[in-house]
Amino acid sequence: MVGAGSVGTSLAYAALIRRSASEVILYDIDAAKTEAEVLDLAHGTQFTGTSRVSGGGDISCVAGASVVVITAGAKQKPGQTRLELAGTNVAILETLMPRLLEQAPNAVYLLVSNPVDVLTVAAAQISGLPDGHLFGSGCVLDSARLRWLIAERSGVSQQSVHAMMLGEHGDTEFPLWSQAKIGTVPLREWRDDGGSRLFSGDVRATIHDEVVHSAYKIIAGKGATNYAIGLSGARIVEAVLRDEKAVLPVSTVLHGYRGIDGVALSVPAIVGARGIERVLDTPMDEQETRWLDRSASTLHASLTSLGL
Ligand code: 2OP
Repeated sequence: MVGAGSVGTSLAYAALIRRSASEVILYDIDAAKTEAEVLDLAHGTQFTGTSRVSGGGDISCVAGASVVVITAGAKQKPGQTRLELAGTNVAILETLMPRLLEQAPNAVYLLVSNPVDVLTVAAAQISGLPDGHLFGSGCVLDSARLRWLIAERSGVSQQSVHAMMLGEHGDTEFPLWSQAKIGTVPLREWRDDGGSRLFSGDVRATIHDEVVHSAYKIIAGKGATNYAIGLSGARIVEAVLRDEKAVLPVSTVLHGYRGIDGVALSVPAIVGARGIERVLDTPMDEQETRWLDRSASTLHASLTSLGL
């Protein structure tokens, strides 16, 4: 975990609790804070299984890591968009990535810092890593938020809600309603016990809006989001370390995907030991295609303004 702020430490904590990895290493330039976080986490490992935790302020501690998760960088202030962090966090990556690559040239790199889609393109350009070896956490968290909202309304387990947010991890993200299901029933046709449709167009629009504004709401209340992104990040790490071939909505640089080139955004992709092993060309209706194009053009404009 690169960055020992609230996201990096929550990710480390989630990884220990979930037994995502045999060894968790925390690295941050703030050595004193990192060493304190490592101690605090290590004192709990009696209760988390056999995982080990170590780290500090010397970058050589990441040498030989299988997965490097980057959470370092400025975070959103209340009311600020993710895209407004781009300049600062791209500059951080420009110094950080080459140094990490020296230590862990064969790792799979997972970007979590924001704006994650823009940083995924920047890190891919800086590192020259093969496609798939570097990708962003993208809409895995947003999809968890979507599934939670659907589960709350329908009273069905989140595990039986099949739904994804795609596109930018930001204001233009969108739910892939056309493919969403509860159990085997298409979400748009889901009815309650009394036979009423639960997910009308208005309800779907409200849910979409709630997902988009989730982070803003949490940041306004507590200054940052950390627990759910920590759990989402740990989940993605597991897919890589266990070579799961899990289909997750992660952010990757696209080449000729529905006309999108050189922009990273979230689409369903198979994640395994080599990182993103395949991007799925999922069916989309006309509205979803327009939403995807809107995400791509927003991100394209951000990349262009940064000279990427
Ligand atoms: C989140 O969605 C801020 O990107 C972070 O929680």
